[in-house]
Amino acid sequence: MSKKNTGTKPWGGRFSEGTDAFVEHFTASIPFDYRLCEEDIQGSIAHARMLAKTGLLTSEESEQIIQGLEAIGEEARQGKIQWSVPLEDVHMNIEARLIERIGDTGKKLHTGRSRNDQVATDIRLWLRRAIDEIDAELTRLRSGLIDLAEREADTIMPGFTHLQSAQPVTFGHHMLAWQEMLDRDQQRLRECRGRVNIMPLGAAALAGTSFPIDRDYTAELLGFERPARNSLDAVSDRDFAIEFTAFASILLMHLSRFSEELVLWNSAQFGFVDLPDRFCTGSSIMPQKKNPDVPELVRGKTGRVYGHLLSLLTLMKSQPLAYNKDNQEDKEPLFDSVDTVSACLRAFADMMPALEVKRERCHAAASMGFATATDLADYLVRRGVAFRDAHEIVGRAVRHGLEQQRDLAQMSLEELRGFCPDIDEDVFDILTVEGSVAARNHPGGTAPEQVRRAAREARESLTQ
Ligand code: ARG
Repeated sequence: MSKKNTGTKPWGGRFSEGTDAFVEHFTASIPFDYRLCEEDIQGSIAHARMLAKTGLLTSEESEQIIQGLEAIGEEARQGKIQWSVPLEDVHMNIEARLIERIGDTGKKLHTGRSRNDQVATDIRLWLRRAIDEIDAELTRLRSGLIDLAEREADTIMPGFTHLQSAQPVTFGHHMLAWQEMLDRDQQRLRECRGRVNIMPLGAAALAGTSFPIDRDYTAELLGFERPARNSLDAVSDRDFAIEFTAFASILLMHLSRFSEELVLWNSAQFGFVDLPDRFCTGSSIMPQKKNPDVPELVRGKTGRVYGHLLSLLTLMKSQPLAYNKDNQEDKEPLFDSVDTVSACLRAFADMMPALEVKRERCHAAASMGFATATDLADYLVRRGVAFRDAHEIVGRAVRHGLEQQRDLAQMSLEELRGFCPDIDEDVFDILTVEGSVAARNHPGGTAPEQVRRAAREARESLTQ
């Protein structure tokens, strides 16, 4: 090591003094990019194989490098690697360890590549694996919601607009509404995966390389769809990370909405559901409390992922081509978005099948607030009354009911006929909440029969 203390740096050659101690920490990414270790090794092994195939390394050299890298992978899995801040990032840490293990042959690995295409490749490999895990969790949650929808296809609850009693709906129908949102999320995730799965390697620093490399071969080894078409774009593009975080933001926006409903429904005042004890915690002062912490936290964690989306968009907005050190800031928001989404999905996928639905409470709540007023208006329309007149007539009946503190179904036939002589005995069939939901019997409607059909179709779509 030279006196000027630049010897530890793979790039120390042109420097005449060592890096400032603070700057060394300020510029290092190893405190967080060590998480790319597996993918860095995977990418380097593929690169070494390609270098042998194209004659840029002998097969002995390539073998030696691959064995060394595999051994380092094993050391990392056992937690035996001492990550070094002076070595800046995961790429230089692993390369230095390789040279330490296998000697000078290790110095040949970096032929025809740069950390710029290397890091872009590593993040894509890392994110691709994360996406596949998240995709599986999404399927698990969707499947749980579909089961729940089937179980509660006949359960009647109030449907709200403006959080005011609107019309009765079935609990199963409500669950399938959530399921639809997640279906779209999964489609977005899979689209995003397609654009993640493009290989930057071979772009080298920015312009490509003067060596006769075989990018198709490396791409095939790493399971990428194809090499990136433009070297400048390959090293600087982070759209895929932004897209993933946008997917994550929309998904968490949905989970936050579900959470808000669960928190409300779990309250003593609503009492529609009971969250299992194992998903709740108590209060240190109020003995009666059972708090819905899991949905509350999911709701709360949504904000940090929105923040990451904004961070990444802002990170990229003024960067000239091609790679800039700014890009090192992509990792923490992306890693945390993946961690947060994974944890929230897991919590929901575990919790939803265990949800206890208080069917009587739901039914009683659905019967309050004149929820079948629209059904009465529709009934009058079928009897030849114009809809606007029917609306007015039912409005008067509701006002009367409010004064008397009685629902429409609790009024006598004479009382109802007082508002419109066209009303007959059969009106009571449609004034019940059962009649109301059963009447909405078309694809997309809330009738139990439709819920069961929609649940079957949703289940089939899970395997596509
Ligand atoms: N640690 C860097 C990052 O995360 C790796 C690429 C560094 N490239 C460079 N030319 N300094 O972006």
